[in-house]
Amino acid sequence: MAAELSPIDQAKFAAARRSVDFVESGMKLGLGTGSTAAWMVRCLAERVREDGLQVTCVSTSSWTADLARGLGLPVVGLDEVKWLDLTIDGADEFDANLNLIKGGGAALLQEKIVATASDRMIVIADAAKEVAQLGAFPLPVEVIPFGWQTTKALIEETLYSLDVMSREVSLRLVNGDPLRTDEGHYLLDLSLRRIGNPRQLALVLNQIPGVVENGLFIDICDVVVIGHGDGRVTVRDINSGRVETGSVDLTESRNIFADLE
Ligand code: 5RP
Repeated sequence: MAAELSPIDQAKFAAARRSVDFVESGMKLGLGTGSTAAWMVRCLAERVREDGLQVTCVSTSSWTADLARGLGLPVVGLDEVKWLDLTIDGADEFDANLNLIKGGGAALLQEKIVATASDRMIVIADAAKEVAQLGAFPLPVEVIPFGWQTTKALIEETLYSLDVMSREVSLRLVNGDPLRTDEGHYLLDLSLRRIGNPRQLALVLNQIPGVVENGLFIDICDVVVIGHGDGRVTVRDINSGRVETGSVDLTESRNIFADLE
């Protein structure tokens, strides 16, 4: 089964597999959302099954909660535990400072709350997610449905005073209807192509009435685990400056792939 994964999925799997080495028994964990995070949840479930690890999980979406519970992981609400030891999540883009764009999977609000409520955040990503400057991936912004077109116009007007290369804003649709997040909000995707000052943009967007949260994660991520299609993995810690390289043996993970058959 491992051999049937595309190189990009092998890269995502390699990053996910390495990331669960950071999990220790007794930890309260935040579980991210997306295809890379889904691999991580499967790898975590395998460690719980095989190593007898005790963990308490808080999910960043209903989708991940269903996956985790289906694999036997205990999932509770954030308010039950209030603070977490570690969150592991994917990203749409990350830069050299480990600032991120997230929200491609429509879960940015819970993802930001959960990551911010964690002592440590680890991002898992395939190597293609690394960028010199954020912005090629459209920036998701979660907005209240009431008056969303006014909110969109205010965002467009605000973007004219900011250092971005393009200013197209579109409502995210699913089958022709506005996508609803887990919180019932809409998502606007901002095609900016290049974000000159991500910190400023993140602050300014959140000042606009109707904006709930934006997908820029600034100074939240501590470690990135970067996977490659051949199983190589690089771990970069922004706080210590340490960089480690290694590789993941896909043949050792037959149980995880068997879960998918
Ligand atoms: C969901 C996210 C995801 O982490 C991001 O979209 C990356 O997804 P994937 O691992 O499928 O590439 O932010 O809101």
